[in-house]
Amino acid sequence: MTQDIKEILLTQEQIRAKVKELAKTICEEYAGKDPIFVGVLKGVVIFFADMVREIDIPCQIDFMWISSYGSGSDSSGKMDVKRDVSADLKGRHVVILEDIFDTGNSLEFTYKHLLSKEPASLKICTLLDKPERRNPAVTVQPDYVGFVIPNEFVVGYGLDYDEHYRNLPYVGVLKPEVYSK
Ligand code: IMP
Ligand code: MG
Repeated sequence: MTQDIKEILLTQEQIRAKVKELAKTICEEYAGKDPIFVGVLKGVVIFFADMVREIDIPCQIDFMWISSYGSGSDSSGKMDVKRDVSADLKGRHVVILEDIFDTGNSLEFTYKHLLSKEPASLKICTLLDKPERRNPAVTVQPDYVGFVIPNEFVVGYGLDYDEHYRNLPYVGVLKPEVYSK
């Protein structure tokens, strides 16, 4: 598995420090608001679990799962809610947690979907942001960003290639020859 990694982009220590920093900012902003953190499966699971354990204010957690179809591997096709949140978000302060903001298509879809549930507020926190890949038609922006990364395909810490590498404890760049196999 590690032999497929060209370079470690973010070490466990770097990620841990950033998670603490993000959580501190969010705690300050959401104290007394009983926020709900909504994780978008599956890529977010590791980040989500680390984040909420650094949150020391009362809060709730929920998950949704979206699927994209119609255009192969990228997210430009149509999207659908495969599993919706279970909590009633009306009047609640909601923070979406995501692994990566790439083209932005999935988060735009997720954001609009959750906005239709009439939350009191809705913000986006993403561990990684790849601005070079942004679809110009996307209007939503992440409110909290862990790391801005270059336009390279990364895996680990929840992120996958072909459903593998999610269990790597760091974020690494995949060797190009792995794609061409
Ligand atoms: P979007 O392009 O912003 O809609 O991102 C859609 C999804 O593509 C993300 O939630 C990730 O699951 C996946 N993705 C985008 N870039 C990468 C990457 O560099 N590595 C692994 N998955 C990625
Ligand atoms: Mg993925």
